[in-house]
Amino acid sequence: MALPPNFLDELRDRVTVSSVIGRKLKLERRGREYIALCPFHGDSKPSLNIVDEKGFYHCFACGAHGDVIRFLMENDGLKFMEAVEQIAGMAGMEVPKESPEDAQRAERRRTLQEVVDLACKWYERQLSSSSGDAAKRYLTERGLTQQTISKFRLGWAPDDKGALTRAMKAEGVDQDVLLEAGLIRKFDDGGVTDWMRGRVLFPITDRRGGVIAFGGRVLGDGQPKYLNSPDTPLFHKGRVLYGLAQAREAAHKTGELAVAEGYMDVIALAQAGVPAVAPLGTALTEDQIAELWRLTPEPVVCFDGDTAGQKAARRAADRALPMLKPGHSLRFMALPEGKDPDDVVKTDGAKGFRELMDQARPMAKFLWESERDALPIDTPERRADFFARARSLVREIGDRTVQQAYEDEVERLINETRRPGDRDAGGAGGKPFFNGMRTGYKRGRYDQKYGKTPPRWLGENAAPDSSSMDEGIRRTEEIVLLTILRHPGTMDRFQEVIGAIAFQNDDFDAFRRTLVDIFSGNPDLDQTALFAELRARDQDEMIEYLENQKLERSYVFAKQSAGLAEAARGLGHLLRPYRLRDVEQQIEVLRVSEEAATESGFEKLQRLRAERELLASGADDENSDPWAEGAWSVTAQPTH
Ligand code: UTP
Ligand code: MN
Repeated sequence: MALPPNFLDELRDRVTVSSVIGRKLKLERRGREYIALCPFHGDSKPSLNIVDEKGFYHCFACGAHGDVIRFLMENDGLKFMEAVEQIAGMAGMEVPKESPEDAQRAERRRTLQEVVDLACKWYERQLSSSSGDAAKRYLTERGLTQQTISKFRLGWAPDDKGALTRAMKAEGVDQDVLLEAGLIRKFDDGGVTDWMRGRVLFPITDRRGGVIAFGGRVLGDGQPKYLNSPDTPLFHKGRVLYGLAQAREAAHKTGELAVAEGYMDVIALAQAGVPAVAPLGTALTEDQIAELWRLTPEPVVCFDGDTAGQKAARRAADRALPMLKPGHSLRFMALPEGKDPDDVVKTDGAKGFRELMDQARPMAKFLWESERDALPIDTPERRADFFARARSLVREIGDRTVQQAYEDEVERLINETRRPGDRDAGGAGGKPFFNGMRTGYKRGRYDQKYGKTPPRWLGENAAPDSSSMDEGIRRTEEIVLLTILRHPGTMDRFQEVIGAIAFQNDDFDAFRRTLVDIFSGNPDLDQTALFAELRARDQDEMIEYLENQKLERSYVFAKQSAGLAEAARGLGHLLRPYRLRDVEQQIEVLRVSEEAATESGFEKLQRLRAERELLASGADDENSDPWAEGAWSVTAQPTH
């Protein structure tokens, strides 16, 4: 029933927490607070703090926390209204009476609940009687002990459409009540049938263990495999977690809680000593997530290792994201492909399951990786899109402090992803970001440039590889870099090839990677911004060097005064052999891959072959328009 507004506040104001807790526990004064041995875990030295000023108690060891009402509910096992009544009694206040309608509704619920419990008892008896022999065998074969069967009050609904109806009639229960309780169903012609027939029954309870509905499983391979009771005044599928009543105490005490997908997972885990709950064949709802957090701050989602299970896990993460609050999250466990928790417990035992559970990924990592693996991130554009998706997820978070912490985390991950030398691959299929890229540059050598020694690319023999390096190649590398500095707009078109190639000169190559790195985060960078970025990365010296080479004397398109199209044409020409090599390499890889056998793989291969023809024929000579459709370019890739 609903209490008038402010009634509870007034109640809390009038009765101190210490006076309520002091009736049950021995309190020790500590300044303006009290401490006591916490009754919610095996406390050896007092860790329960009682703060009257703030009206709450808090245990620093187990995290138990609440107000006077909560204390009586948790410690004395009272229902909410019972606790309210008791505290009102202490305060000399009267609890407002519920309205006649409220009373009627509550009475109705009590009746329904009694009837469902009666049915549950009857189903349990069926399982232990000879009519339940096959079901008992089934459950035993699935590894359940008698103790587990009793704890979860499993039952058997005989394959007889009127068995329950008759039994309940004998107990004096009206058909109307059975109908409202979701135990029978009515046909249009007025006839009725038991809702559950020929199924093993899994009673679904409320938080306190009162049975409110059933799930039923066929013994063999029939369809549907599982059937739930319909929604009733007692039972709303999206608000209930299967196994909650049984898991509650242990989860609260140990902080360990597995969120599985199915009835049998919950039971198998419970039998192995892992507290577990499950939604009822639907995606986790907000109500259910809130309920999980009432038990423990970081429940572990362990959905099946199949696609459906992983999709459901992602849905759960999306649902939880806006609800995150400091200290509260979900973790995500990876189950072996095609296995559910029941299977894992069976083959690897509780220990094996816990080992996997301990490796569960935090939500931030789970979301990041799920987004990263959703689409290829093998081009700068795709990576940029991935970064944008990751950032937009962060914006979903409601709590400011959690959102800020996520922002930091995501920016850190983005930076890590951007720095090519640090990682070899990302994304689906482990495709390298940068084909043929050399291994990361060595900071120590780069730092030499800041010492007294002149940059090694300046002197004829300054660098070990520069003497053996073809002068023409070096020129090409220089001019490519200079053209990008002068015309950042060209990166729009050439970013993929620039990202995929390797320069022979280590310093030029490091600079090339720096450019790719900068553009992958900001594809539309103008020259001012580019130079600012480069300076921020201590690249002034390289800029100065390239500027001083007077390269534009022989390469007009590199001049600052050249147009963008002209610059692009020149750059395209220079990059053509690189692109050709890259395309050939891609063809080689793709040809022998499984992807080649798919429609999209085949199309991609065709496109690459066409591009190879074009490049090899030199058809894209300096007079062709580099921005024209069909000119060799990276943008001929499918977009998602
Ligand atoms: P699963 O098919 O993964 O079942 O469905 P399971 O728990 O592994 O079952 P066993 O091991 O074969 O007995 C997971 C959950 O989805 C719901 C049920 O809640 C089930 O526990 N479900 C499944 C249905 O509601 N209806 C169905 O037909 C199947
Ligand atoms: Mn299963």
